Amino acid sequence: MTPTSLAPPSDPVILAIETSCDETAAAVIGRDGLVASSVLCSQHDVHGRYGGVVPELAARRHIETVDTIAAEALRKAGMVWTDIQAVAVTNGPGLAGALMVGVSFGKSLAYALRVPLIAVNHLEGHIASAWVDQPDFPTPCVVLIVSGGHTHLYLVRPDGALQLLGKTLDDAAGEAFDKAAKILGLGFPGGPAIDRLARTGRVDVVKFPRPYLKPGSLDFSFSGLKTALLYDWQDRSQPARQETVADVAAGYQEAIVDVLVEKAFRAVRRHHVIALAVVGGVSANSRLRARFTARAAEAGIRLALPSPALCTDNAVMIAAAGRRAYSQGRLAAWDLEASAGLSLPADADASSPNFRSTGTRGA
Ligand code: KG4
Ligand code: ZN
Repeated sequence: MTPTSLAPPSDPVILAIETSCDETAAAVIGRDGLVASSVLCSQHDVHGRYGGVVPELAARRHIETVDTIAAEALRKAGMVWTDIQAVAVTNGPGLAGALMVGVSFGKSLAYALRVPLIAVNHLEGHIASAWVDQPDFPTPCVVLIVSGGHTHLYLVRPDGALQLLGKTLDDAAGEAFDKAAKILGLGFPGGPAIDRLARTGRVDVVKFPRPYLKPGSLDFSFSGLKTALLYDWQDRSQPARQETVADVAAGYQEAIVDVLVEKAFRAVRRHHVIALAVVGGVSANSRLRARFTARAAEAGIRLALPSPALCTDNAVMIAAAGRRAYSQGRLAAWDLEASAGLSLPADADASSPNFRSTGTRGA
């Protein structure tokens, strides 16, 4: 059963919930589409000592905090529960237990309030973040998602449909940052730590490979880069490590950014678009932002780089994607379940035998 008998408003006040990984987040978007509030509770204190996210602990912390975070989002928006006209919730991909908490909460809330429920794919959320600060950002455009679990390049068509252009064959860009930070002993999460340290290092002292793969490929591969870092680090004496750690971080980060810039602009050229969005946690990286900004200016390409708080996981992007789904009549049924391995329809198309990830389908 879908809650379609409710005669819902055309632009509802949406409360969004995000619990796919290690951030418990809630946000409210008003009828005007503007962000009314955004609240986030990070779990870095829980997972930091383990050097990575512990799924069971993440789910438990979400259970402890989700209702408080949602209530806080409501309070900050100056609203009461009955002001909410739709509930959007991330139902995947992500950690099964963590997702289950948000989905159960969102479902119960929507049911209790007698308002529609909207299921949001976390990746759709990241993509939607590009339009939060720039609602007039044009399509067709290319979107690069760089997060802890994904490094995907899509073409976004004018009707919003996605076409997968390329993706990582092994580690995601965020994973490459996190694993490198672990090797260098910089703690968790690794991306921000490498970003900070690299600012004091030189990019050309320690050279790392640039994995461009086959000529013209729009796929990515970062696991070899991580191995190169591991070998380099193992070969250094303790004093050499201390002396060079900032240069190593800067050189490593530069290799990742070089590849991301090159492939994203290759996709832009190949598909003759004039707009590029870079979204997901890694797009908070200061070097990445500077390099993409410079290259876009040089190429005369319009660039969407969401503000850093919208790059890493948050519920504003879920509310934004939820608003769009709602306007298309995509409401969820009450038996909605968390789906850890949820993919986008474009990704499913890509696994068909006709898809050539290095080809020029649609170009
Ligand atoms: O989008 P996100 O918050 O969660 C996922 O959907 O995965 O991305 C998290 C990833 C982590 O790997 C984290 O290390 C990376 O984004 N990240 C960064 C920075 N901030 C977060 N990587 C590089 N530089 C940053 N400043
Ligand atoms: Zn994310």
